[in-house]
Amino acid sequence: MGSSEEEELTFGEAEMNVFKQNLKGVKALMESGITRIPNAYVKPLDERPTKLSAAAAADGNKIEIPVIDLADLDGDGQDQVVKTIGEACEKWGFFQVINHGVPTSVIHSMMQVCQEFFDLPTEEKMELYSDDTLKPVRFGTSYSLSKDTVLEWRDYLRCPCRPLSDFIHLWPAKPSTFREVTMEYSKEIAALAKRLCYALSESLGLESECLYEVIGKHQQILMPNHYPACPNPDLTIGLSAHSDAGGITILLQDHVGGLEVFNEGQWIAVKPLPDAFVVNLADQTQILTNGKYKSVEHRATVNAQRARISISTFFQPAADAKIAPIPELLGGQPPMYRESLFGVYLRDFFTNRLNRKSAVDSLKLSGKTKTRKSHTVQGFKKKLRKCRNCINRAP
Ligand code: OGA
Ligand code: NI
Repeated sequence: MGSSEEEELTFGEAEMNVFKQNLKGVKALMESGITRIPNAYVKPLDERPTKLSAAAAADGNKIEIPVIDLADLDGDGQDQVVKTIGEACEKWGFFQVINHGVPTSVIHSMMQVCQEFFDLPTEEKMELYSDDTLKPVRFGTSYSLSKDTVLEWRDYLRCPCRPLSDFIHLWPAKPSTFREVTMEYSKEIAALAKRLCYALSESLGLESECLYEVIGKHQQILMPNHYPACPNPDLTIGLSAHSDAGGITILLQDHVGGLEVFNEGQWIAVKPLPDAFVVNLADQTQILTNGKYKSVEHRATVNAQRARISISTFFQPAADAKIAPIPELLGGQPPMYRESLFGVYLRDFFTNRLNRKSAVDSLKLSGKTKTRKSHTVQGFKKKLRKCRNCINRAP
């Protein structure tokens, strides 16, 4: 695209504000009959999907994130599965799981009810609309209309799940089965997250409960995303490159595809597998493991043919949890990250928008600094106590 055309795409501030005020989500925008994306969605050249995806395509897209069969996780093959998970976490920070134990019927009902939610009349969804990123339950579009200078091709719903009694009455009342189906799904995903956290801890040589205690059992936030088909998918993005802020994310996606993972300098497409989950590690796990396990950047592209639905579930520490590298994992090395309160981290993360990995990078220490003495601990009881006492409690 030539630079003169580029200039035409620039959207003035006043024009943008009017556009944002009238916006009721990308799906509603498409239903209004547009044939070209509004300028508000045109990303700068270096944030458009084509450049790096083309590099990946030139490679024949042969590289794929690992697919891990969990059938043996609780059986004879446990050690091997745990080892495979550990390798995937070190190399990729991303993998898919099959034979994960979540019933297919639960998966299908969840996808169906999310589809029905996004298919509701715009005005009904707008009753839940808020641009306040601190509001727990809300329907939203782009990331945040007040914060985004260029918008993104995505509508979403945010539903915290824990404790259920604090939030379930705030979840959408329509479709009529939404609450029941989502409750069932969130329980199944919580059980899967627990098994995965145990496996992660074991793969690091930690006591099984260790990571679960910090990242797995506190906040659980479900976020269904809807990415409408887009007339100009090369000019915009569904969700910009980012790493997730919490501990571990479990994503269910339909068959359309669009999720890409940044690995060794290129974007790799995650091939949708029926009824599988995509698992990715998030920033707190990178900090806790002192960088051994990675919280990897990813993004969602859109396409001209089909709308896409994905359902993210974020597992993250309590807001008052103190997060720092786990002493046993330092192996004599200084910690790479300074300690922070997860609630403060999250606030900074949202303030900086999904600014690639800047939030986690801002906690990086220079080689010589140490935040606190690492403890020498023997035996599992003490080790476990350390996980709880030193990492997961406010000062
Ligand atoms: C997210 C996310 C990817 C997708 O919700 O954080 O990265 O494919 N989603 O929707
Ligand atoms: Ni993400």
